[in-house]
Amino acid sequence: MVKGFSRTQIALHWVVAVLIVFQLLFADSIKPAWRAVRNGGTASLSTMAWAHILGGILVLALVVWRLWLRQSRGVPDLPGGETGVMKMAALAGHWGLYAIMIGAAVTGLIAWYGAIPAMGEVHQMFQPLFYILIGVHVLAALYHHFILKDGLLNRMRQPQD
Ligand code: HEM
Ligand code: HEM
Repeated sequence: MVKGFSRTQIALHWVVAVLIVFQLLFADSIKPAWRAVRNGGTASLSTMAWAHILGGILVLALVVWRLWLRQSRGVPDLPGGETGVMKMAALAGHWGLYAIMIGAAVTGLIAWYGAIPAMGEVHQMFQPLFYILIGVHVLAALYHHFILKDGLLNRMRQPQD
């Protein structure tokens, strides 16, 4: 059993977190090009539209790396003193975040490179899921920090290589 997250795991968590926020805040940039594709035309991509595509591909690559590290190196157990329900919620939340990160990137790629409007609709549905799961995730982290005072936030700040 490992004592904590490694330097690489922590760096990946924060880089991916920033990338996801970027993807959510600047997604409108790809819409004009997407409209052109849906109307059967060719799309000219702005720099920010390219950033949405490359950002999404980067998220996918980094999440696969994270999952591989999770498997090969391991992650610390959830902090003790939690009820079974809280553990289940944490597991569901973390796996839910991994699932939507992969789901959003893959549906985006299929929609774009396959020029498939229906997949664009599926891709859009990830937006509210991100807001809900990230919202709960951040609130849970703050609850641990300020109410339970169990030092959970430090686990994503102080590497245990
Ligand atoms: C201010 C924002 C954030 C804070 C304070 C935060 C905090 C944390 C903390 C403390 C953990 C470690 C939990 C543990 O020790 O078991 C964690 C894990 C995790 N976070 Fe975040 N996080 C933030 C943003 C995000 C975002 C935006 C995402 C992705 C959309 C994300 C995805 C994850 C995932 C998937 C894990 C599970 C890691 C694993 O065990 O494999 N986090 N986060
Ligand atoms: C995890 C990575 C990604 C996230 C979080 C994300 C997020 C989003 C969001 C929030 C929207 C706006 C939805 C709306 O306003 O209704 C959007 C639109 C779009 N994204 Fe992504 N995206 C990601 C990756 C990608 C990738 C890799 C591609 C293409 C290679 C892509 C292509 C598109 C397209 C074509 C649209 C327009 C869809 C439409 O309006 O129907 N996305 N994305």
